[in-house]
Amino acid sequence: MLRVNILLYALICGIFAKMNQPKRYLITSALPYANGPKHIGHLAGAYLPADIYVRYLRAQKRDVVFVCGSDEHGAAITIQAMKEQTTPKAIVDKYHALLESNMNDLGISFDIYHRTSAQIHHETAQEFFTKLNNNGDLELQESEQYFDEAANTFLADRYITGTCPICSYDKAYGDQCEKCGTSLSPEQLIHPKSTLSGNPPAKKKTTHWYLPLNKHEDFLRKWILETHQSDWKTNVLGQCKSWIDAGLHPRAVTRDLEWGVKVPLADAEGKVLYVWFDAPIGYISATKQWAINNNKDWKPYWEDKETKLIHFIGKDNIVFHCIIFPVMLQLHGNILPENVPSNEFMNLEGDKMSTSRGWSIEMDEYITDFVKKENGGDMMVDALRYYLTAIAPETKDSEFTWKGFQDALNSELVSIFGNFVNRTFVLMHKLCNGKVPAFHNDIADDADTALLKNILYTKETVETNIEQYKFRDALFEVIDLSRKGNKYMQDKEPWIVAKQVDENGKPTAAAQKQIDNCLHHCLQLCANLAVLINPFLPLTAKKMCYMMKVVDKILEWENAGKSNLLSIGYSLRAPELLFRKLEDEEVKQQIEKLQAKSKKLMENTTPAAEPTVKTVVSKEEIQFDDFAKIDLKTGTIVAAEKVEKADKLLKLLVDLGSEQRSIVSGIALHFQPENIIGQKVVVVTNLAPRKMRGIESNGMILMAENNNGKLCFVSSDVVNGSNVS
Ligand code: 2FM
Ligand code: ZN
Repeated sequence: MLRVNILLYALICGIFAKMNQPKRYLITSALPYANGPKHIGHLAGAYLPADIYVRYLRAQKRDVVFVCGSDEHGAAITIQAMKEQTTPKAIVDKYHALLESNMNDLGISFDIYHRTSAQIHHETAQEFFTKLNNNGDLELQESEQYFDEAANTFLADRYITGTCPICSYDKAYGDQCEKCGTSLSPEQLIHPKSTLSGNPPAKKKTTHWYLPLNKHEDFLRKWILETHQSDWKTNVLGQCKSWIDAGLHPRAVTRDLEWGVKVPLADAEGKVLYVWFDAPIGYISATKQWAINNNKDWKPYWEDKETKLIHFIGKDNIVFHCIIFPVMLQLHGNILPENVPSNEFMNLEGDKMSTSRGWSIEMDEYITDFVKKENGGDMMVDALRYYLTAIAPETKDSEFTWKGFQDALNSELVSIFGNFVNRTFVLMHKLCNGKVPAFHNDIADDADTALLKNILYTKETVETNIEQYKFRDALFEVIDLSRKGNKYMQDKEPWIVAKQVDENGKPTAAAQKQIDNCLHHCLQLCANLAVLINPFLPLTAKKMCYMMKVVDKILEWENAGKSNLLSIGYSLRAPELLFRKLEDEEVKQQIEKLQAKSKKLMENTTPAAEPTVKTVVSKEEIQFDDFAKIDLKTGTIVAAEKVEKADKLLKLLVDLGSEQRSIVSGIALHFQPENIIGQKVVVVTNLAPRKMRGIESNGMILMAENNNGKLCFVSSDVVNGSNVS
């Protein structure tokens, strides 16, 4: 009866879920710059979560297209060409091939991995520009831009570096600070200099086409902050709100450069589309190429409102995907993204991951060291996919450590999931002649019912979590189900029951029935685990299918929750090793390798200056417990105003990542409110609220005082909401 109810419930849920399903899905992952290898932080940010989502949708037999490709324009490419003393074309050819093969080796199952140097992309981007320009949606403006007189060229984006006004990183680019992720314009850089000559740049007049974002503020506010207030991630909403609240401005969509998509106008010699104008259009041109390759129509994927468009990105791409590209799509008459699940960053062994500083694990490096080097390297693909998902930076920055990887692999994948599957197969061969045993209803007990209920429960929670882009939680549920399988088997002890033997030394009929029931359920659970783990660890699922002698069709999602996936009497193969342990020696080697690589790359960098401020102990000693009570977080001042009739007070709005706090601070004699927007501060966040001049202050900001008694902001590359400890 219970079983009938469960099935009925599942059926009804299924019907309702289907009714709400979009007609089709278009899933994109940020196009990586083809200017060098990409690290596993990139993989964890934009590629792996998208792949899990897509594999889940495919298992649901939904109409889904997963597109990506190399971003082959912009100064990122031409500067790399200068470094490698070759042409931009040679650079993109080399790294496009590398990235495509790395993604493939790590099981990222794009339907197409395209490239923005393709003719179809140039045509698509030019058509897009032309339509917007003809419709009067772009504005031509003359402005003064940085110019390198020695090199006789304008300095767009990455051709200019300087100090980031937000985090003080001294190698920020003219378009973005790679350390704190802030999107910048060259004018915002402190001490700008040309990357070509090293000289401070001059200014020269030039004309460009601008997208007047200021005219679309109302649309963005409504679309993002009202329509998507409850379904977008808070980190994404927070960044969008800060941008919109700070006021949007026209953004130049062309550049004075040679390399890129030519501006399709007669009077635009020497001008190309800004890389951030053409790159997202790459999603459309990739879809077009996919449609050509597969004899399909690309249009519904970008024009029909019943398509669910989802962009998977890292947090440094939020503004482009949530503000600029949607305005372009809206003006061009395309659908808008339904969601932009952006991840935070993944750090490595206590520091920010960075290829240029050598503090990274490149995808290619991992593939060489673990996947290609050994037989059965497949299991190390899934091992990496497992750990990166288990520690995915979904709501805050996370950290990859080799020790953490070892622990996750050895004590979760090997000891829980792998162990359950292996024990089941070994025992089935030993105690059931290598065949799926029958299930005897007459001796079924509560543990059997509970196990089946758990399978159904896991299916539902995995679905809910994946559909809300909570891949970490979803994966946890699958592993937890295998943990429950281990417990079920441990409680039933078929190897002990098998000791109840008859005169021939065989288990008695009653004992065999108990053994059969246990292994029948364990095998059905293995089949379910294969279905449930498939989006995350596809190679493992495939190997399990091989062991079960079933075709991949069994991995269709509708099979999850079923207790009859394997037929009684069907003979199965011997168990295969699903995962291997990571040895201490391997952990040690990798850490040493990382340190050596970073040391080599950093040899030429200047050592940190001697501290100029002496530390003077000026308060009585406190105990650690006193200190531990204080919750310190970093934040950015996003608004500041004077408090009426209070010379010393400023009312600040501080963005803490997950929330914005109103704080009253006594710094008005030191700063003009308009000069401190964007500055980072440390905030005591758990100080009881108190009123100052009738205004509630919800925290306190901390600042350092320099030798001259001047208050200084904290220069930091951490994101808002980071703990200070
Ligand atoms: O940040 C980057 O690596 C960009 N190349 C991402 C582009 S995503 C899209 F818009 F194409
Ligand atoms: Zn910065």
